[in-house]
Amino acid sequence: MTVARPAATAALLQVDAIVGKLPGPAAVAEVCRFLRASFPHYGWVGVYRLEGRELVLEAYAGAQATEHVRIPIDRGLCGRAARDGVTVVVDDVRASPEYLACFLSTRSEIVVPVHAGGRVVGEIDIDSDRLAAFDASDRRLLEEVAVRLSPAVGAAAPPR
Ligand code: SME
Repeated sequence: MTVARPAATAALLQVDAIVGKLPGPAAVAEVCRFLRASFPHYGWVGVYRLEGRELVLEAYAGAQATEHVRIPIDRGLCGRAARDGVTVVVDDVRASPEYLACFLSTRSEIVVPVHAGGRVVGEIDIDSDRLAAFDASDRRLLEEVAVRLSPAVGAAAPPR
């Protein structure tokens, strides 16, 4: 799917409004809800916070809860994005040996790190029921959302 630039710009303005209005954890939860409601190919939207060597689920919007509320940094697509500090896009999760399954219906996934103070403090994780749902426009949008979420996620992350 492609997120048209005007839709991305409008979404980023809304994210700015959310993070400007709500305290950190509430802003993170609201951004998850907003993204899922705005883009039909975003089936499950979660934000993990990095705590030491573990990713901890901070908030999510989706039809189902995930069993992966804590993910060791050496596991899964989520772990790879946190270790490498770069966005991971997987067009077909069934072909990915690293993939940690959460939902049977998931076909593709994008994980976008959130940085603060030169280190990874968390990540945005989105599952889609469509194969190859995420293209460069999703990546660009979500990397810009990640910049805006940095204070909210970084504030919740304990210092190391
Ligand atoms: N699929 C992720 C685990 C998180 S769930 O998608 C919510 C992974 O491979 O790390």
